[in-house]
Amino acid sequence: MVEAQNGPMVQLKGISKTYKSRSSFFNGSAEDVIALKNISVEIFKGEILGLVGQSGSGKTTMGRLLVKLEKPDEGSIRLEGQQINRLKWRALKDFRMKVQMIFQDPYQSLNPHLSIFDTIQEPLIIHGVGTRQEKRMKVIKSMEAVGMSPATDYLNRYPHQLSGGQRQRVAIARAMVLKPGFVVADEPTSMLDATIAIQLFRLLLDIRERFGVTFLFITHNLAAARYLCDRIAVIQNGEIVETGSAEDIIRKPQHDYTRKLIAAQPRFEYGGAGTNSKF
Ligand SMILES: Nc1ncnc2c1ncn2[C@@H]1O[C@H](COP(=O)(O)OP(=O)(O)O)[C@@H](O)[C@H]1O
Ligand SMILES: [Mg+2]
Repeated sequence: MVEAQNGPMVQLKGISKTYKSRSSFFNGSAEDVIALKNISVEIFKGEILGLVGQSGSGKTTMGRLLVKLEKPDEGSIRLEGQQINRLKWRALKDFRMKVQMIFQDPYQSLNPHLSIFDTIQEPLIIHGVGTRQEKRMKVIKSMEAVGMSPATDYLNRYPHQLSGGQRQRVAIARAMVLKPGFVVADEPTSMLDATIAIQLFRLLLDIRERFGVTFLFITHNLAAARYLCDRIAVIQNGEIVETGSAEDIIRKPQHDYTRKLIAAQPRFEYGGAGTNSKF
């Protein structure tokens, strides 16, 4: 088991997050939204943890907290043992380099005015990494790592000239260019066809293998989580209802909500060697 060999990369303890209702400014009766309630979970080094739940269950909120796009109201988040909410200066910069997020919608997450080269290069510029020539080499290597080769075929193109799957590869190359240790992938394939999704799953597994990246993989699709993840945490209305190995969660679900998710799952064929059935 991954956790037997490695310590935790990420530890969340007692995390809660409420969104103040915007409309309550005008309408006193509107309610705040409790997105996360007392979440505690660990992600071990080198593993892919799946966070699975229906739309609105709090998955994206958890992802955004982990990359510091959002702050928790309560609780602590540690990355390699270090509290992330009090990071300053150098430590914050290190955090921004070490932790990356891949977003759900590759049509919105890429700046349409930046060429592919500039898109992937941008994090290197923000963090002042490398000379001009070194930046170019890192961009090319990152593109090759996501299967966009020869890179020169793509460097001068713009996002609108690429397919959804290629755009998501660019987003992954951009996330990988700083060699992060931890990546949050928020439903990275939910806008894509199943065959393209499987190619991207294989790519994520390959990236984990080659670069030792730890992933939080967010999805509403249990079959996808089973294909990709070592362990799965099931989230319902902002609460984690069970956590276990991917096999155990699918074969021996302990919680009613997990059983309902399994029953509601549309048939999802991967067609790959080994994993070709629904569950
Ligand atoms: N910026 C926001 N302001 C107010 N409510 C939000 C905001 N972001 C998310 N929510 C609400 O928080 C809950 C959890 O949302 P989210 O984390 O996006 O869930 P998921 O990713 O599982 O679909 C939902 O009820 C959603 O409407
Ligand atoms: Mg979401």
